[in-house]
Amino acid sequence: MTAPLLPVESLLPMDTVAVPPKILHPDVESVLVSEEQIAAKIAELAAAVDNDYAGREVVLVGVLKGAVMVMADLARALTVPVSLEFMAVSSYGSATSSSGVVRILKDLDRDITDCDVLVVEDIIDSGLTLSWLLRNLRSRHPRSVEVVAMLRKPEAAQVEVPVKYMGFDIPSVFVVGYGLDYAQRYRELPYVGTLRPEVYTG
Ligand code: PRP
Repeated sequence: MTAPLLPVESLLPMDTVAVPPKILHPDVESVLVSEEQIAAKIAELAAAVDNDYAGREVVLVGVLKGAVMVMADLARALTVPVSLEFMAVSSYGSATSSSGVVRILKDLDRDITDCDVLVVEDIIDSGLTLSWLLRNLRSRHPRSVEVVAMLRKPEAAQVEVPVKYMGFDIPSVFVVGYGLDYAQRYRELPYVGTLRPEVYTG
């Protein structure tokens, strides 16, 4: 016997759903880019991508782990058909600065020959990771490769990277949230912010 269908109102008692108050994380000192600004930028970037790739399919290549939030939001905002691919790379060198020597920890699951590829990044710092990744992807003979990035630190650039779809240029300060971490924490914050100094010093 099948269960009777419930009216949708009884499944979604919208008027009784408690909306959690938006409280800043106690470790966050300031918000650089708000949740609302990110949402507006995602819509803007998606509209530009939709326009440029009309009638085509786009292979989104997210760079783990930081790009997961941009990837998820952008994919849902786009109307052109997309497939989702992820790469994980690791730069040799210190934890806070890239050396430009990159190792592939997880490669694409598919061939991208003749595909329109859009690399999705959370942040471009020195630009070394992306510079290496673009060379690597281009060697696989895609039809096109472009970049969408939510954040960029122009003052930290060591190499020029062509970014077709850019979110926000920010100062060269350490930021967390919206995919960005400090010691693997704070990625889940819906905004981009700076941490209180005592968080680093313990
Ligand atoms: C970050 C970010 C970029 C890269 C940018 O990743 O997601 O991939 O650094 O730095 P660059 O421009 O100086 O090369 P990270 O290596 O911190 O890994 P994560 O995404 O897993 O946090």
